[in-house]
Amino acid sequence: MLPIIHHRLLLAGMAAGLFLLMAGCNDTVEKENVKQLPLVSASDTIPWRGPASTQIPVYSAENGKDIWYGYELISKTSYYLGPNGTVNQISNGMNCQNCHLDAGTKPFGNNYGAVASTYPKFRERSGTMESIEKRVNDCFERSLNGKALDSNSREMKAIVAYINWLGRKVEKGSKPLGSGIMELKFLDRAADPVKGKTVFTGHCARCHGDDGQGLKSPDGKGYEFPPLWGPHSYNAGAGLFRLSRFAGYVYNNMPNTVSWHNPEITQEQAWDVAAFVNSQPRPSKDLTKDWPDISGKPVDHPFGPYADTFSEKQHKYGPYGPIAEWKKEHAAKKASK
Ligand code: HEC
Ligand code: HEC
Repeated sequence: MLPIIHHRLLLAGMAAGLFLLMAGCNDTVEKENVKQLPLVSASDTIPWRGPASTQIPVYSAENGKDIWYGYELISKTSYYLGPNGTVNQISNGMNCQNCHLDAGTKPFGNNYGAVASTYPKFRERSGTMESIEKRVNDCFERSLNGKALDSNSREMKAIVAYINWLGRKVEKGSKPLGSGIMELKFLDRAADPVKGKTVFTGHCARCHGDDGQGLKSPDGKGYEFPPLWGPHSYNAGAGLFRLSRFAGYVYNNMPNTVSWHNPEITQEQAWDVAAFVNSQPRPSKDLTKDWPDISGKPVDHPFGPYADTFSEKQHKYGPYGPIAEWKKEHAAKKASK
């Protein structure tokens, strides 16, 4: 029991620290926020943050070498495995870290907090039990529009060692607050690419470029600002191609100077910019083996066939509420049979 109490005290201490810090700001808006801050038992209100790279075990420690190399591969994927990679050339020039921020440790930054604790797990997309290796390769083949790593390669072992190390203190089977991507509230209309274009021009283009192609880094091995569409971007089988994933990621993390407690754009703007970016051209992928049970498709999966009668367009842009409602009823009927 002791470690848990200790943990809670620490969190309570952190909350109290934050309280003092915020109480210092003599502003009514700040004071409103202070009231909502958790003062005791904060474990379910303060999101998980992964350990910083400075805490990685020394190179000579058991696993130390692998964990370090895994951290390198996640944060500088392109340098090692991009089009001009020093180890292999199997991916599109992006880094895992472009979407799994701070090497997979940032709260609501699509972090890896729930990976060690929940894999292997059944996933509807493949209809199989998936190992961490399989899930990592999914991102290589989709998000990095590339090729899978051999499961026995030094690189895969290192990536898995790093991800397991990040999540080693997360209780088996649990999913900490702030892991992965935040689920935003659905709009009660379809997300609108035209409105999204305005958001893009005002909040995104200055880094990702007017044409969304990003900005290459001076050494030509990767990107200063990664591309959002076009031949070097994620393909249509990637998680971010679903509007809910894109919107949830961008709302809390873009421009890349913001975080979950001080977003720059509204949730509505996040949905609309998702609609705009995901209407632009990008690489395709053979998805015929995905979702063997079509009733398991998420509401915003943009490719039919579906178990319901909603159109591909509505599945892509929304409104999602009626689809979610249909799914709930359908699941209830199935269960009562
Ligand atoms: C273009 C963005 C992007 C890039 C680049 C990317 N990923 Fe992902 N990754 C995602 C999204 C989106 C998800 C799904 C998150 C969700 O549905 O909550 C995901 C999920 C994962 C998961 C499962 C997380 C979980 O909690 O179940 C792992 C593991 C993972 N990625 C590893 C990697 C690795 C390793 C790389 C680099 C080789 C990588 N990803 C590159 C977007 C990306
Ligand atoms: C100040 C510069 C800046 C602005 C403005 C900005 N981004 Fe980014 N964006 C970045 C950087 C840098 C990364 C990569 C983060 C990393 O590797 O740590 C990134 C990554 C991304 C990614 C994941 C990687 C990819 O290329 O698919 C998406 C999606 C994204 N940004 C969307 C947006 C959207 C939408 C906006 C506007 C609402 C926006 N960004 C505004 C700098 C910016």
